Amino acid sequence: MSIFIYSLHTTFPAACYALRARTCIYPYRRNSRFLASLGMTNGEEWPAQFDRGRCMAKKSSTLPLNLKGPKLRMPLYRWLYEELRSEILAGRLHPGARLPATRDLAQQYRISRPTIVTAFEQLRSEGYVEGKVGSGTYVSETLPDELLQAPRAKSTAGTRRRGIPLSAYARRLRPLPRAEARPARAFRASQPALDAFPTNLWAQVAARRLRRVSTRLLAGGEALGYRPLREAVAEYLNTSRGVKCTADQVLIISGVQQALDRTAHLLLDPGDPVWMEEPGYPGAAVVFRAVGAKICPVPVDSEGLNLDSGRRRWQKQRPRLIYVTPAHQFPLGVTMSLRRRLSLLEWARRSRTIIFEDDYDSEYRYSGRPIPALQGLDRAAVVIFAGSFTDVLFPALRLAYLVVPADMVEIFAAAESVSTHHPPLIDQAILCDFIREGHFARHVRRMRELYAERLSVLVESVRERLGGLLEIPAVEAGLRTVGWLQGGIMAERAAKAAAKYDVEVVPLSRYAYGRARSDGIVLGFAAVDARELRRGVEQLAQALLECLA
Ligand SMILES: Cc1ncc(COP(=O)(O)O)c(C=O)c1O
Repeated sequence: MSIFIYSLHTTFPAACYALRARTCIYPYRRNSRFLASLGMTNGEEWPAQFDRGRCMAKKSSTLPLNLKGPKLRMPLYRWLYEELRSEILAGRLHPGARLPATRDLAQQYRISRPTIVTAFEQLRSEGYVEGKVGSGTYVSETLPDELLQAPRAKSTAGTRRRGIPLSAYARRLRPLPRAEARPARAFRASQPALDAFPTNLWAQVAARRLRRVSTRLLAGGEALGYRPLREAVAEYLNTSRGVKCTADQVLIISGVQQALDRTAHLLLDPGDPVWMEEPGYPGAAVVFRAVGAKICPVPVDSEGLNLDSGRRRWQKQRPRLIYVTPAHQFPLGVTMSLRRRLSLLEWARRSRTIIFEDDYDSEYRYSGRPIPALQGLDRAAVVIFAGSFTDVLFPALRLAYLVVPADMVEIFAAAESVSTHHPPLIDQAILCDFIREGHFARHVRRMRELYAERLSVLVESVRERLGGLLEIPAVEAGLRTVGWLQGGIMAERAAKAAAKYDVEVVPLSRYAYGRARSDGIVLGFAAVDARELRRGVEQLAQALLECLA
């Protein structure tokens, strides 16, 4: 009977409507065995959207889905599973995208929630999605192998189809993965403790600033950024980071990411060699590649970027730029030694190479003596220094600073003037007030204590529950750490297994340009509380044991 109704429905939708209107279908639908064969429950409406062949979710809490109608003789849960799976495979549902809530889907397609839960469970067991019913279901960041082999939609694919000629830059451009949309869970590496951010205080400071905003501020126009903020940043960097600069050298910019982009456009031509730490920050590599620069990976050892190794390996290619994270190497966490800093600066001076010093998260140091920034040791004006408010306040602020050698200020200002003009001035003024009124320093102190506590929970729980499976080296600074897998466990496999247990870890190979150690994973410890960290360790233990088996 279900065959009859479905074929009638798909072949003659108008007739089907008519039948329905005269309740010819309802007697069958009241039969619970028949309904079960369709994956429906008694009392459910016939999914009206199916009448159009393709059904459009009109009101989803997350993504509008465009699912084809159910297939002949296929249970509804199977249909939903297959539709969602093909959306994921085709890249229309991206890794990290949230699936609509079961309640919304049930309402949209008039199918029962248990049917939807069954489809979600199937996707979850195969690794396509993660998360729990009730707290959101998300497309996995680490997807099953067959999916990874499926061709991904390229950023320029749409324009290419239309035959629009793109610049060489656009053809080289690759997007950075989007920030995670789902709530933080263990061991999110890319996020500070957003739940501990003093939003009320921020709101008060913002409201006060807005109430007394001047027409001068509203008019905008300061290409290098809001002058009082530049002064506050210069003061902070001189006293806390050992940077030597005046406010005239400070530029406010929309994130270190934009600072990298700006620097790359101003200093690099296609084919120019750029030395990068290996493993290193992928956000820098995509920027340098997009301008056509040649990435020259240089290994990192216990003292930071291994200069001698770089010189040997790339002796014929004097770099135009060297990108380093000396305060806390991304992602290994090594602090560059003073000796190495001095040799790097001397070599850069002699070879007339500019160094980009990315000081992205050095506010958080838990042990070891802070070493002055490279910029503070620089006597030859070869260092561009960048720092960000992303990790120290919150990512959506998109405010960061650059300290450039005095003779480069003008060209950076020119670049700003032809693009964004300046990041939003009102946000800069609010941030300036937040710093000037002492809230910033207090927040950093509070967060340093909180992160130190979370770090010790992670280290303790790993020692108790992951002995023989994972080792965490001494962590001196930052919001994340590398962990070394034991017993021959491979990082890619561990990350996939962890995802099944609702835990995020990133294999070190994601940060490598060539061959990478296959036994390293990166774990964040700042984004979630002690309870979630402990849960994460328990789950990771299960996942790693599975990898050993
Ligand atoms: C090493 C490193 N540099 C730069 C950035 C980007 O900073 P921003 O958010 O200021 O663009 C990040 C972000 O995670 C990072 O890890």
